[in-house]
Amino acid sequence: MDRIVIKPSRGLSGTVRVPGDKSITHRAVILGAIAQGRTEVHGYLSGEDCLATIQAFRAMGIEITEEKNGMLIIHGKGLRGLKEPDDVLNLGNSGTSLRLLTGLLAGQRFFSVLTGDASLRMRPMRRLLEPLKQMGAEIRGRDGGDHAPIAVRGQDLHGISYELPVASAQLKSAVLLAGLIAHGKTDITEPVLSRDHTERMLDYLGVRLSVKGLSVSVEGPMEYKSKEIYVPGDFSSSAFLIIATLICPNSELLIREVGLNPTRTGLLEILSKMGGRIEIQNQHMQCGEPIGDLMVRSSQLSGLMVEGEIIPRMIDELPVLCVAAASANGETVIRGAQELRVKETDRIAAMTRELRKMGAQVEELPDGMKITGGRPLRGAVCKSYGDHRIAMAMGIAGLAAQGQTVVENTDCIGTSFPGFEELVHCIDRA
Ligand code: S3P
Repeated sequence: MDRIVIKPSRGLSGTVRVPGDKSITHRAVILGAIAQGRTEVHGYLSGEDCLATIQAFRAMGIEITEEKNGMLIIHGKGLRGLKEPDDVLNLGNSGTSLRLLTGLLAGQRFFSVLTGDASLRMRPMRRLLEPLKQMGAEIRGRDGGDHAPIAVRGQDLHGISYELPVASAQLKSAVLLAGLIAHGKTDITEPVLSRDHTERMLDYLGVRLSVKGLSVSVEGPMEYKSKEIYVPGDFSSSAFLIIATLICPNSELLIREVGLNPTRTGLLEILSKMGGRIEIQNQHMQCGEPIGDLMVRSSQLSGLMVEGEIIPRMIDELPVLCVAAASANGETVIRGAQELRVKETDRIAAMTRELRKMGAQVEELPDGMKITGGRPLRGAVCKSYGDHRIAMAMGIAGLAAQGQTVVENTDCIGTSFPGFEELVHCIDRA
C-alpha cells in the first residue's frame, strides 16, 4: 500500500492543469455508448472510477479505445445496442458508475449484476431502487435492496413523476437515464439543486429536456446522435490546490481550464466570504459547461457558517474545506451535510479524527462539524480510510503543518486525481 510523505511547504507557485472532470467523464462514456455513432472524448479522466465505467461498457459489447493523444473513442450503438454482460459488472469504488448504470440497465432487455468494492457495497441503494421499481424495473439487492450486489432483470419501463428524498446527482441521473429509454414522460424533482452535468450533456447532444427550477423531465424513448465532447479540469481536484495555495504563505498558483459549473463551485463562494483571494479569468463555455482559469493567492481566512442549499454544490469539497477552516481565524460550522456520512467513507468522522491528530480543535456534529481554527497544525501519521478525498485533504493539511506528515494507504487517490503527489511536489518551492 502506498503512502505519501509531506513536508511543510515554503509556498506554492506555477501554472497547472488538473485531470479531467470525473463526473463529466462518466457521463461522456455512458451517453457516448448509447448514442448513435462515434464519440471522441478529449481530456477525459483516466482515473480508476472512470476506467470502471469504461470496462463495464466494454463488457456490454461497446468498443472503446484509449488513444495515445489522450482521446477516448466510443463506438456508440444507440439506446438498445448494449448486450448482456456474461459476468458480474464490478464498478470498484465508484458510486457514480454503480448508480448511473443501474438506472440505464433497468430498461435494457437483459439480465445484469452490479457490484463494487467493500466501501461501495456499504453505500445506500434503496433510494435508487425505489423510483426505478415505480417505473416497472425488476431489481433486487442485498439487505432488502439497500446494498450491492444488485441484480437487474431489464424490463420495458414507463415514465413517472418522482420527488427525490435527497439532493443527489447520482440518483437524479440514474432516473433520467431510465427515463431516456422508458415510454412516456419522466419528471424528477429535487429538494435542492445538485450537479446538473447529465442535463447539460443531454441538452448539448440534442436531447429535448425540460428544466424548470428544481424539476427536470424527459420524454422517452429518445434516440440521439453522437457529438465530440471536451472534458474540463475537475473543479473538485482543483479544490485541493486552491486551498493549499490559500493556506500556505508566499503562494500564487494559476489553475487552467477548470470546470466552473455553478452546481459545483459552492466552495468558491464560501472561500471568497472567508477572505480567500481567488480570481476567475478567461471564462467561457465548452460543450454546454462553463470553464475558466483560477488565479489563487495566499490569504488570511476567517471562519463562517456553511449550511443550506450550498451544501450539495460543494459536497465533495467539504473534507478539504475543513482543512481551510482549521487554518482560519475563528469558528467554522458546517451543518446539513449528513450525506457526507455515506460517501466512500464516513467523511465527517474521518476528518474529525484525522484533523484532531494534527492538533486541530474539531467537534463532530450529527450532520457536520464545528472547527475552531487558528491553532498551528502539527505533522502526524494520518489514515485515508481508503477514501481519495480524505487522503488528499490530509496531504494538504500536511503542507501547512509544522513537521512531517505521512498519509497512509493513498492508492485510492488514483480514483480521481492520478499524479496528485507529483503535481504537489512540482509546484512546491521547498
Ligand atoms: C456525483 C454526485 C455526488 C458526488 C459524487 C459524484 C456524480 O454524489 O458526491 O462524487 O457524478 O453524479 P451524490 O449524487 O450521492 O450526491
